[in-house]
Amino acid sequence: MHGFHLKNNRWHSDGVPLSRIAEKVGTPCYVYSLPAFESQFGEIDRAYRSVPHLVAYSLKANGNLSVIRALARLGSGADVVSGGELFKARKAGVPAEKVIFAGVGKTDDEIAYALKEGIGYFNVESIPEIKAINEVARKMKKIAPIAIRFNPDVDPHTHHYITTGKKETKFGVYLGDLELVMKTVRECRSVRWTAVHAHIGSQMTQTGPVGMAARVVEKLVLRLRREGFAIHTVNLGGGYGIDYRGEKPPKASQYARLVLPVIQRLNATLILEPGRFISGNSGVLLMRVIYVKQSGSKTFYIVDAGMSELIRPSLYDAYHRIAPALGPQKPVKTVDVVGPICESGDFFAKNRKLPLARRGDLLVVFSAGAYGSVMGSTYNARPLPPEVVVRGTRFQVARQRQTWQDLVRLEKIWS
Ligand SMILES: Cc1ncc(COP(=O)(O)O)c(C=O)c1O
Repeated sequence: MHGFHLKNNRWHSDGVPLSRIAEKVGTPCYVYSLPAFESQFGEIDRAYRSVPHLVAYSLKANGNLSVIRALARLGSGADVVSGGELFKARKAGVPAEKVIFAGVGKTDDEIAYALKEGIGYFNVESIPEIKAINEVARKMKKIAPIAIRFNPDVDPHTHHYITTGKKETKFGVYLGDLELVMKTVRECRSVRWTAVHAHIGSQMTQTGPVGMAARVVEKLVLRLRREGFAIHTVNLGGGYGIDYRGEKPPKASQYARLVLPVIQRLNATLILEPGRFISGNSGVLLMRVIYVKQSGSKTFYIVDAGMSELIRPSLYDAYHRIAPALGPQKPVKTVDVVGPICESGDFFAKNRKLPLARRGDLLVVFSAGAYGSVMGSTYNARPLPPEVVVRGTRFQVARQRQTWQDLVRLEKIWS
């Protein structure tokens, strides 16, 4: 939980008590420590400093513009998966040539927008996509830089919803189709193929699968070079895990120890697309207890945030640490922490030992900086919460709370 610490029995983000932010901004609300984002970025960047490399922060984990801007100032690129993310990356100041555009379903309009901007690479996920990019580029009289994402069929040993490098997932091109890929690229005169991409999954807590994927990619690059393709860049995606509940994930330097020799042997440039490693423990969600409800032997803390703010527990059964923002931290009661949404899957914790809480108490949900706010929804007509950024003893609302008016702004009543 970089950037968050207990001082005098009060949780702080850098120099600011979280209770002060909640009083000023209301709850639910996300809080991000900008120095924490920066130091996580720095850890990866330093681990790979001995080779030419680009750390392209994965916007899908946390797309707050202030966060992207802070990372861009340190030299970060952006891994984007939609025209909207490309727009946000550019708005936050990421140079176009440092943008990598991934995703299995890019539309022609998105491809044209990316070509117009002059992005660094399209991470291509299928043979039909090579042809589509070629066609759009041909019409625009441009040459599209492409990396082809291969599916190395390596098990990352993580949740099956975030496993992406096995051959039965929808991501990447099956290695068995290599001949067809080469034939297709040879026929497509408006694409330039210079990079190979592989991302095997998210929240990995072992280095082994990354090392295996790197070796598969190495063999592939050597083969492609023998076939006459000038592959000079290797993109190994993201996926570095973080500590949610006591996991001991590897440090960036431990992954680097396996990856660097491959990159050096290939004399290649490395691209990485970390999301969670940079953002996960750099953000928290603040929420207040609305009611403490006793139901037979069960106790519920009913809080003012729900699956609309943070869906990870409902979607992946994910564990997030929870603690009172102020006061004693000793767990004494077994409770369910649940949201106000009309779904029984709307929960943050089940049968969790937590300190006693009363109506109005402020709770902190930790490790909420990745795949939190970005997966938010307005289900049950709940306005999106604000996002606050902190640096030192200062904080700022980086995204305002939506209003009820915002919820209906795009609607027109049929009359
Ligand atoms: C292609 C690609 N790159 C990067 C990422 C970021 O992953 P993480 O947040 O685990 O680092 C993802 C996430 O699934 C991805 O699919």
